[in-house]
Amino acid sequence: MKFFVDTADIDAIAELNDLGMVDGVTTNPSLILKSGRNILEVTKEICALVSGPVSAEVVATEADDMIAEGRKLAKIADNIAVKVPLTWAGLKACKTLTDEGSMVNVTLCFSANQALLAAKAGASFISPFVGRLDDVNIDGMELISDIRTIYDNYAFDTEILVASIRTVNHITDAALIGADVITAPPGVLKKLADHPLTDKGLEGFMADWAKTGQNIL
Ligand code: E4P
Repeated sequence: MKFFVDTADIDAIAELNDLGMVDGVTTNPSLILKSGRNILEVTKEICALVSGPVSAEVVATEADDMIAEGRKLAKIADNIAVKVPLTWAGLKACKTLTDEGSMVNVTLCFSANQALLAAKAGASFISPFVGRLDDVNIDGMELISDIRTIYDNYAFDTEILVASIRTVNHITDAALIGADVITAPPGVLKKLADHPLTDKGLEGFMADWAKTGQNIL
């Protein structure tokens, strides 16, 4: 399973990238706002840092304008994935940009039928938002499971990119279902290593090691 980082924070991306944990990056208008950076500048820096796909989102609502924005974003670097919303205009932009050779990530997916449309429009990635579904008492992971089944039934190439991840359990569940990619905030990715028994075990080993009076170096 690939790990994408869901942020436009260069320092946070660089820290995880140094650990070999970054297969790609996703951004959105809210994350660009949070970064306080210019979208074109920060996206270019991220693309230079990370070799995998970097999603940059269009903000137009009409297909022709989305296509124009997508073409401009795609020129930033070869590893740009143009992000478009799951509307008919977004699907039209997806088809056009995909036909032109760009990677496209179709975002704001909340149903299996929407995911089916994105695959038929040639999307490289579909981004179902599990956390936002959980927020309204709908099981986000059930959607991931349904999309996995549908894509496998028809051998669609579109990768399932599980988005709106809030907890480490979302990542475990996505991996068990066989999602292709997860995108998570840096804080959630860092929590993957945490376990109280690891901390307790290490504490015990360190205490006993001190009693040996030995050094390795
Ligand atoms: C990723 O592509 C999405 O933009 C992101 O995961 C949304 O997460 P949120 O629901 O926490 O805003």
